[in-house]
Amino acid sequence: MKRKVTKAVFPVAGLGTRFLPATKSVPKEVLTLVDRPLIQYAIDEARAAGITDFIFVTAKGKSALEDYFDHATDLEAKLEADGKHDLVEALRSSNMESGSIAYIRQHRALGLGHAVGCARRLIGDEPFAVILPDDVIAAEKPCLQQMVEAYAETGGSMVAAMEVSPARASSYGVLDIEDDMGSMVSVKGMVEKPKPGTAPSNLAVIGRYILAPTVLANLDQIVPSAGGELQLTDAIAMEIEQGRGVYGYRFRGERFDCGSKAGFLQATVAFGLAREELREEFQSYLHEIVAMRKAAQ
Ligand code: UTP
Repeated sequence: MKRKVTKAVFPVAGLGTRFLPATKSVPKEVLTLVDRPLIQYAIDEARAAGITDFIFVTAKGKSALEDYFDHATDLEAKLEADGKHDLVEALRSSNMESGSIAYIRQHRALGLGHAVGCARRLIGDEPFAVILPDDVIAAEKPCLQQMVEAYAETGGSMVAAMEVSPARASSYGVLDIEDDMGSMVSVKGMVEKPKPGTAPSNLAVIGRYILAPTVLANLDQIVPSAGGELQLTDAIAMEIEQGRGVYGYRFRGERFDCGSKAGFLQATVAFGLAREELREEFQSYLHEIVAMRKAAQ
């Protein structure tokens, strides 16, 4: 059965160890890409896809993330009085409608599957989206919106998929493809972080999902697997065994792994260059620095 997707889960309870010491006090999702925290990009993408209910799975030490969505009414009034309308607009883009956000705690970081399972009572019996905010996707049409449109055709469960080199496949969940239909593939299996040389394809799962509510029941049955964690991919793979459709969607866009330092730096360059007001200065700085490095070699 297909239904409109209005709820999205944002699992943000991970420890973010790759960004220590910053993440000792600042949640990874609040780290800034140009001038907005990662979480803002995720929220904007969800809104564009028609999401109206936002469920955050948070943890101890994430209060800066929760505070980010409070309305800064005093600051707004001051900027308004000062005639700084562009800043008021920028500030308002982070305002959420009262009652549209829910925060649920994951008491121990037992894995992404466990984090999503923590939201089950708020999701109920309807399809839902999952967005990992540290996967940032630059796309003309936001990735989740592309997926919602594709999901309207297929139903089932859908994961965003991206080609990766065989050497990188063991860092991802990888799809075992049944039928390749171009932008969409039907899936007959999924393996989380396959051992080198054993990946069933070069199509890797990245952090956007539209899931059938039956995945929530499967989350109750999975056991720790790759990395000793409860893996969401294992619960999705069970859908296939139970005879329900699972699809991979080759989105149009560029994905940045902002959970890693190198990926975050690449995103900073790409998003910086994409901003008209920064482009000229930033581009000439990049040219300069590359030329200087070449000369020094
Ligand atoms: P990561 O694998 O990037 O883990 O989680 P992490 O803890 O955030 O970061 P590192 O590896 O220690 O640097 C992928 C996504 O799943 C969430 C994370 O918050 C992130 O959005 N997650 C992971 C949870 O919410 N709970 C968990 O138990 C594990």
